[in-house]
Order: sequence, then C-alpha cells, then structure tokens
Amino acid sequence: MENILLDTSSHPHIAIITINRPKQLNALNRATIEELSSALDDLNGNQDIRCVILTGSGEKAFVAGADIKEFAAFTVEEGRMLSAEGHQKLFNKVELMRKPVIAAVNGFALGGGLELAMSAHIRVASDNAVLGLPEVSLGVIPGYGGTQRLPRLVGSGKALELICTAGKMSAEDAKQWGLVNDVVSQEELLNTAIGMAQKIARQSPTAVAFALQAVRAGYAHEASGRQAEIEAFGKCFGTADFKEGTEAFLEKRKPSFEGK
Ligand code: CAA
Repeated sequence: MENILLDTSSHPHIAIITINRPKQLNALNRATIEELSSALDDLNGNQDIRCVILTGSGEKAFVAGADIKEFAAFTVEEGRMLSAEGHQKLFNKVELMRKPVIAAVNGFALGGGLELAMSAHIRVASDNAVLGLPEVSLGVIPGYGGTQRLPRLVGSGKALELICTAGKMSAEDAKQWGLVNDVVSQEELLNTAIGMAQKIARQSPTAVAFALQAVRAGYAHEASGRQAEIEAFGKCFGTADFKEGTEAFLEKRKPSFEGK
C-alpha cells in the first residue's frame, strides 16, 4: 500500500492505520480511500484485532479533506459518484466496523478529514488540531457524511454555523462541543489513543460489537439524509461557484462567488 501504513504488531489486539500523504496534508484521493477500505475489511475480519486507531502522518494534518486537485474538473455525475463511493467504501464502513475505531486527530481535520474522524466511534485530538467543514468556501458541500454526523454530534445550530460559514474550530472548542472526547499534546496523542484502545481490548469483543450495533441503530434514519447529501454534492459540480471555488484554491487566492 502506497498511501497508508498499517501496524498490527506493536500493541496486542490493536491496529494503527496512518494515512501517509504528508506533502498533500494526507488529503483523501481515490487510491487512499481504496487502500483504507481494503485495510478496514481485513481488520474487521481479523479476530485478533479488537480496536483500530486512525491517524495522519506528520505533525501538521490528520486529513485536510478530499483531494481537491483530483475532483476539481469533475462533472455532476462524477461528483455524485465520488460522494456515493466514498460513503460506501470508507465512511459508512468505518461506522459499521464491529470493533471501535478511534480517530487520533493530530492536526488539520478539514472537510473529508473531519468527516472521517466523525465516522469513527471515538475522537481524541492534539492541542494543535483544527477542525471544520470548509466545503462551501469551495462552492461545494460536505459530501462524506458531514451534513448528518456533525449535527448529531454538536447539534444542528452549531453544525450549520460551522458548515455555512466554512468555520474552523480549535481542539479545545471541539472538546467543549463534544466533538472530541479529549485534547492532549501532540506527543501524548497516540499513547492516549492506545491507552483507550487497550482498555477496550480488555473487554468482551462480542459485547463491544453489540454495543456498537445498538448505538448505531439509534441513528439508522440518517441513511436518507446521506442520500440527499450525495445528490446535493453532485449538483454543486454543475455550478459556476464550484468552478470558481476550486480554481481559487488551486491558484491560492480567495474565491469570488456569484451564486450561479
Ligand atoms: N486537497 C488537495 N491538496 C491539498 C488539500 C486538499 N484538500 N489540502 C492541502 N493540500 C495541499 C496543498 O495544495 C499544498 O500542495 P502544494 O504544495 O502542491 O501546493 C499542500 O497540501 C500543503 O498545503 P498548503 O500549502 O495549503 O498548507 P497551508 O499550511 O498553507 O494551509 C490548510 C493548510 C489550511 C489545511 C489548506 O491546505 C487548506 O485549506 N486545505 C483545503 C482544506 C479544505 O478545503 N478541505 C475540504 C476539501 S473538500 C471535501 O473534503 C469535500 C468532501 O466533503 C467530500
């Protein structure tokens, strides 16, 4: 695998997946999503693994979002498929895992990065982490489940403020809002996640799997919201605002939107 690192041997019963594209701030391109998807399938079926930790490589980012360079020229249908396949191959798969997934958020968790952290069952963050869903600043909307999972975690008022202002939250604010469980220094982050994973690994794996299933059943209604998100995400790709937003990002300038 070229874009992720997988460690299943350093700590008994714990797998650590590191997204490893630090020069692109670990942005999720298609290849990375495929690799994560296949690693999660393997870990889900691996009886020896009782908890999975997801983190990012380097000191700057957990994941800075979906790979804007990859999708900037997509059509409406390609945009719709990007979102639909992302849900199916990665984001829903994380949420459906039979063992807890802990996101160790070690820096920027923006767009698809925060969406990945929110698909995980538990989040811990380093004190330099910055979390947000800045998609509307690109002329698009969160397309990997953010419109459903952020309101569930922080309430719809705060979620809509963050989404509609393309706002960003510090780790401490995220803790106050219940988006992350704990904030520690970057040096302590992985050990904090490992400590939590070790506590989980000491419990009954079957009971833990049933607990995940029961909690998940409480928000099964989100499926229709996710479908609406996929359709709306695709439609954004047909707008002049999307062209302007993505071009502005690639040209490293501020966008000027006309609402078309
Ligand atoms: N996609 C592709 N490349 C990205 C990226 C992304 N999401 N985020 C960062 N990069 C790249 C930059 O283009 C840059 O590459 P080059 O060296 O080739 O120019 C490199 O990573 C380093 O980034 P910056 O120079 O921008 O670093 P910075 O410290 O100045 O800024 C940042 C950091 C604030 C995170 C900034 O990179 C940024 O705003 N990134 C985009 C965040 C974003 O909008 N995420 C949402 C993506 S859309 C999405 O996720 C849709 C969805 O829901 C499905």
